[in-house]
Amino acid sequence: MNMRVFRHVAELRSELNSQRREGKTIACVPTMGNLHAGHLQLIRLAREKADIVVATIFVNRLQFGLNEDWDQYPRTFESDCEKLDAESCDYLFSPDETEMYPNGMEGQTRVVSPTMTDVLCGASRPGHFEGVTTVVTKLFHIVEPDVAVFGLKDFQQLAIVKRMAADLCIGIDIIGAPVARDPDGLALSSRNTFITEEERPKANQLYQSLRWVTEQIERGQRDFRALESEAKIQIETAGFRLDYFSICNAGTLDLAVDDDKELAILGALFTAQARLIDNLTLSID
Ligand code: PAJ
Repeated sequence: MNMRVFRHVAELRSELNSQRREGKTIACVPTMGNLHAGHLQLIRLAREKADIVVATIFVNRLQFGLNEDWDQYPRTFESDCEKLDAESCDYLFSPDETEMYPNGMEGQTRVVSPTMTDVLCGASRPGHFEGVTTVVTKLFHIVEPDVAVFGLKDFQQLAIVKRMAADLCIGIDIIGAPVARDPDGLALSSRNTFITEEERPKANQLYQSLRWVTEQIERGQRDFRALESEAKIQIETAGFRLDYFSICNAGTLDLAVDDDKELAILGALFTAQARLIDNLTLSID
């Protein structure tokens, strides 16, 4: 294996400092592991953007609610390393919890963004985005990359990280990569392993409804709230409990109104054992 694995901040820093002294640029791809083709696409994009690619794997308990799936989150370190190495990833930073939170999580200084964090996924996962912005800030300070790559699969997360970077004058170029999907449209996710065989044929219903709503808007339908209600019925009829389905202004994530031009349609549903999210964006004139 050519990729080097680092468990400790100090060692990674000293290695990256020597690369930087040689004039190398650095791209960072933060993940929680259990890597699939969506993650690997981020690594490939990172490769194009900088000389050195640093992936991180850390299942960040700070962004999981107490009743959420932190314990069950799939951990597949060995095969993750093989996949990253096959993509010519240069370094993997995979700290344990005491390395990331040496003073514990309770008293950890947090990064709080009041914008876009309480709606959509933030409404059903209180504190989630505070955990994300906090760990991403730490990873940014540890890796000090020129570029960081995030997936559009987590549209809200990407918007919040971009806003945080702007608000805190973090001079890192934050890049979004397209959503990688299975052939039937289901967005790839580490949590897809929790979809049962029985559910799988219908698990692309969220994507189907996102497509259907997009087509209606493209045909001139502008009653966004009526479209949301119809999508809810479609998803519930397929046998899933809906968390939310919202047609939003892509820039603010507020519910879209008539004269919005850039839209993001976002949804989340519950399967028997997982919560799945997806989104599509469109421009109208
Ligand atoms: P994780 O869910 O492992 O995702 C890591 C990165 O992969 C995120 O930027 C996510 O948007 C992207 N990704 C996941 N599935 C994708 C898909 N199907 N297509 C494109 N990109 C995809 O998101 C997190 O981890 C964490 O919140 C993290 C940012 C690492 C902070 O802990």
